[in-house]
Amino acid sequence: MGGRRKVTVVGAGNVGATCAQELARRDYADVVVVDIKEGLPQGKALDVNQAAAVLGYEATVTGSNGYEESSGSEVVVITAGLPRQPGMSRDDLVTTNEKIVTSVTEQVLAASPDAILVVVSNPLDAMCHVAKDVSGWAKERVFGMAGILDTARFSTFIAWETGMSIKDVTAMVLGGHGDQMVPVVSATTVGGIPLRKLVAEARIQAMVERTAKGGGELVNLLGTSAWYAPGAAAAQMVDAIVLDEQRVLPCTAYLEGEYGIDGLYMGVPVVLGAGGIERIVELDLDESEQAALRASADAVRDVVGVLNS
Ligand code: LAC
Repeated sequence: MGGRRKVTVVGAGNVGATCAQELARRDYADVVVVDIKEGLPQGKALDVNQAAAVLGYEATVTGSNGYEESSGSEVVVITAGLPRQPGMSRDDLVTTNEKIVTSVTEQVLAASPDAILVVVSNPLDAMCHVAKDVSGWAKERVFGMAGILDTARFSTFIAWETGMSIKDVTAMVLGGHGDQMVPVVSATTVGGIPLRKLVAEARIQAMVERTAKGGGELVNLLGTSAWYAPGAAAAQMVDAIVLDEQRVLPCTAYLEGEYGIDGLYMGVPVVLGAGGIERIVELDLDESEQAALRASADAVRDVVGVLNS
């Protein structure tokens, strides 16, 4: 392996493989895909490497069943764990995925002691607590991907509803990555125009509702969790970190008093750069949004309470 930067994706399932492929196409780092299933990470890596001949990138993708190849990674994306199945909430996965994320985090920190961890495994907010507790790393270096995905879903519905370009939608979905998530309508615009000037309240509420249940809609259609948007969203966070972009993105961050919430991982806007979470941005929420955020925090606390650690 040459002198390129290194990013590792743990979990060669649909989300992990999609993220790895997105990252390879960015061409700023070599990518290591780790999975316990023999053949799977090697096969996915080989396939993505061969796609490079057609698509034209030089990043090398390596598949491995262990963490040696991943040593010295700048960023590690953790997607390992069981995905949701129809009828399952994200929270139903808590006990199984707690064990998996614990073991993965232990191995990641041994191989890549200076990495930044981006957690994607569900239930997302609780798995961020697991990764932080197991690693003992600073909160700036351990955080989760959910808000970009949830916001992408909300933005998609807004673009369809208004007939305006998805590129001009600026939205923000906060809170836990559960059905109590909080699409912040007051902070949502299309080309600078507040959403409420463009769409009637009843239609907005329908989009808010569909967004909050967005993961479940996909599970029902696919029989398992979504992967294209989740994989792309995780890659966007890696971009911001590796390229020190200072992007303002909704991420799952450890709150210590921000938004009136203490000692809990929740989705909030952050400034993401080379240091990981460089700042938490506090939006002015209206009263109903504040109440919704508190309810979402309560739902996250319930799941965190189920953790063994
Ligand atoms: C979703 C899963 C990945 O929201 O949580 O699609």
